[in-house]
Amino acid sequence: MFLKKNSSFILCFLLLSAGVILQYFLISIFYGLGTKHNSRKRKEILVSKHVLPTCIIRNSKYNITSFSNQEKNKTNDYMFSNITVAFFEDIRRSWPYGTIFRAPEKIRYCNCSAFNVTVATEKLVQNLGRYDIIFVPQDVGCYKISNLTWNKLGQQKRNKSTQRWIYASFEGVYKIMPQFPDKPYNKDAYDWSFTYHSESDFPMPYGYYKQIEKGLFVGGGMDSILKRKTKLISWMSTWNDCEWPRKRFVDELGRYLPIHRYGGRTGMRCPRSGTVCEMKMKKYKFYLALENSCCSEYITEKFWRTLTWDIVPVVVGAPKSDYLRFAPPGSFIYANDFSSVKGLAEYLLELDSNDELYVRYLQWKVAGKAVLNYPDLNDKPAKTRVPPDTFFYSCASVCRVVTTYQENRQYKRNYEHNMTENFDPYVSWWGGSCRKCTHLISWENTSKCDH
Ligand SMILES: *[C@@H]1O[C@H](CO)[C@@H](O)[C@H](O)[C@H]1NC(C)=O
Ligand SMILES: *[C@@H]1O[C@H](CO)[C@@H](O)[C@H](O)[C@H]1NC(C)=O
Ligand SMILES: *[C@@H]1O[C@H](CO)[C@@H](O)[C@H](O)[C@H]1NC(C)=O
Ligand SMILES: *[C@@H]1O[C@H](CO)[C@@H](O)[C@H](O)[C@H]1NC(C)=O
Ligand SMILES: *[C@@H]1O[C@H](CO)[C@@H](O)[C@H](O)[C@H]1NC(C)=O
Ligand SMILES: *[C@@H]1O[C@H](CO)[C@@H](O)[C@H](O)[C@H]1NC(C)=O
Ligand SMILES: *[C@@H]1O[C@H](CO)[C@@H](O)[C@H](O)[C@H]1NC(C)=O
Ligand SMILES: *[C@@H]1O[C@H](CO)[C@@H](O)[C@H](O)[C@H]1NC(C)=O
Ligand SMILES: *[C@@H]1O[C@H](CO)[C@@H](O)[C@H](O)[C@H]1NC(C)=O
Repeated sequence: MFLKKNSSFILCFLLLSAGVILQYFLISIFYGLGTKHNSRKRKEILVSKHVLPTCIIRNSKYNITSFSNQEKNKTNDYMFSNITVAFFEDIRRSWPYGTIFRAPEKIRYCNCSAFNVTVATEKLVQNLGRYDIIFVPQDVGCYKISNLTWNKLGQQKRNKSTQRWIYASFEGVYKIMPQFPDKPYNKDAYDWSFTYHSESDFPMPYGYYKQIEKGLFVGGGMDSILKRKTKLISWMSTWNDCEWPRKRFVDELGRYLPIHRYGGRTGMRCPRSGTVCEMKMKKYKFYLALENSCCSEYITEKFWRTLTWDIVPVVVGAPKSDYLRFAPPGSFIYANDFSSVKGLAEYLLELDSNDELYVRYLQWKVAGKAVLNYPDLNDKPAKTRVPPDTFFYSCASVCRVVTTYQENRQYKRNYEHNMTENFDPYVSWWGGSCRKCTHLISWENTSKCDH
């Protein structure tokens, strides 16, 4: 039946299949619409608690395994065949991520094997009472939901105690903090979360590490990678950089090393079509995988793509402990480990002149691979509009959520059973998890979106 004993298996399988299909690159040009915030205002708390074993994406709050066993015989009693799901798109002003990152325009039916699900895009607040599950997208193309609207929504939610609201985002939390509900509405706005973070109810990371039996063949494989490496280090920049002075960091590093810059207004071109960009990038030994903000587990496709291209990433982003848990062992250089930009540069030059030291950073490929779990948004023609499995608009994602819903719909929201614990966007692993990105550069004069 649809209640698999091991939910990790389902999720892992989902990710694997999606990951294989969707291996490819994505240039972070989409991160263009930055919010204008002073990075220094950010809180400095951090670090999430759970260890994510290789390729196992857990549903971390609930132990579905034990729950399913306990309730197995009741399956048919609470398996409803006509679940309805809505994407609440009233709050959207634009689609910032290209043509395929969109809610389907028409009503769809998702075949989740054991049950059918009706999926709609709903723009009217007054209609939301009709649905069992409501996804609320959160990205830079969305408005903040006002107090007034939350009041209206609250009435509907109280009226339908089995309804579940899902906070759904592929965006780094820092970018969407301005959309957090005003307190105290945050407390019961959402039931579940669907984000890249492993503490989410439905985690969907940008990529993951997978151990494999036959990785890169030790001798020949490594040699052929090394043979390709004719250039030192590159960086692809975005148009706008608001969260931290990345450009200043790159300029500073550029005083000691020749950095090849791609993208943006002044950089060289790295065309996204086909494998042109990949071929260019694979010639470099290092890539600056600088995240746009530094929050818990925010390790994006930038990083994973770099690994799939046999390049050693130099990272600024999530806490080191997160990279240690999620990245392949020994695969990256953590910039903040150094006491100065000069020290970092000297280390990179040392690796450049010593192949033996350099290939240690690729050694993990002998028994593992990096899987990019994020689609190339330019891959599909706009007409198809079939959301990739890893996006929450897809049937794969809807079925994943509905499966969990089937298991605990019998519990009303906010009742004593902890399975329906709310998701508060301000929680420490999400809204409370961002901190200053690096001590390696001066943050003076960086409050504006002009770095
Ligand atoms: C989940 O429940 C099973 C069976 O009761 C137990 O063996 C397992 O340790 C639990 N896992 C977690 C993470 O609590
Ligand atoms: C519950 O399921 C187990 C095996 O899945 C079965 O052995 C048992 O008879 C069932 N109990 C009832 C009351 O149906
Ligand atoms: C299915 O939907 C119909 C109409 O919305 C409703 O009358 C019926 O009770 C639903 N069935 C189940 C099993 O939820
Ligand atoms: C739904 O999926 C199941 C299992 O994959 C398949 O057997 C069935 O034919 C599908 N139903 C429809 C209406 O496509
Ligand atoms: C799902 O819908 C299809 C077509 O509408 C129908 O043939 C099938 O029996 C339904 N499956 C379930 C489990 O309700
Ligand atoms: C929303 O309501 C909260 C609590 O009543 C209040 O503190 C906040 O200022 C309100 N926000 C707006 C934009 O009115
Ligand atoms: C709550 O539900 C009842 C019936 O189920 C309906 O008459 C009423 O209009 C609903 N109220 C709101 C605010 O949706
Ligand atoms: C729910 O969680 C709270 C605290 O986390 C705990 O005190 C309470 O016993 C739990 N309730 C159930 C039904 O597990
Ligand atoms: C910050 O701005 C002031 C005034 O324009 C300038 O004197 C100072 O050198 C700047 N600091 C940095 C680190 O750029």
